[in-house]
Amino acid sequence: MKPVGIFFGSTYGMTEKSAIKIQQAFGEDIAQVFNLKTATIEDMKPFSNLIFGTSAWGIGEMQDEWELTIDYLSLLDFSERKVALFGLGDQKEYPESFVDGLGTLYCRLPDKSCVVGFWPTDGYEFYFSLASKDNQFVGLVLDDHHQDDMSEERIQKWVKQLKTEFL
Ligand SMILES: Cc1cc2nc3c(=O)[nH]c(=O)nc-3n(C[C@H](O)[C@H](O)[C@H](O)COP(=O)(O)O)c2cc1C
Repeated sequence: MKPVGIFFGSTYGMTEKSAIKIQQAFGEDIAQVFNLKTATIEDMKPFSNLIFGTSAWGIGEMQDEWELTIDYLSLLDFSERKVALFGLGDQKEYPESFVDGLGTLYCRLPDKSCVVGFWPTDGYEFYFSLASKDNQFVGLVLDDHHQDDMSEERIQKWVKQLKTEFL
């Protein structure tokens, strides 16, 4: 399998923690983790397989670092790449905008045909999410506030799925 670059934006470290767990599930020989505080589009270029992670903020907002990065994604050629997304949120405090940052990240990708890693909405309780399309999430959803005990299993299952969907 080709190498995987995991790029995340994280305000209080929850998305960062998940990014590291995803890296460990692939194995450190295959996956590398980058914090968008310092990483740039140049760091994405060597990877055919990309994973983007964000938390959710404000009204449909991605984590701040993604706001600063997203428009530069058009500099990448996605025709020869696969992209998977993951999002952190809080379904009890924000059930009407659950993981909206993930939905916005998907919505603003310059090319959606490369996206893999869709994830079932079963097992979460929410009224509305920008990340939900045709009864699926557009990527892995983690709620470490209320379903911390389920995250490890979800990550393992998602990474297993990605191993069949990535290049
Ligand atoms: C002011 C504020 C707004 C938030 N808005 C949302 C939201 O709209 N939807 C959601 O699912 N979570 C929301 N969250 C929860 C965060 O996305 C969640 O705590 C996440 O795990 C933070 O991850 P990070 O530390 O990696 O940034 C919000 C949290 C705060 C403090």
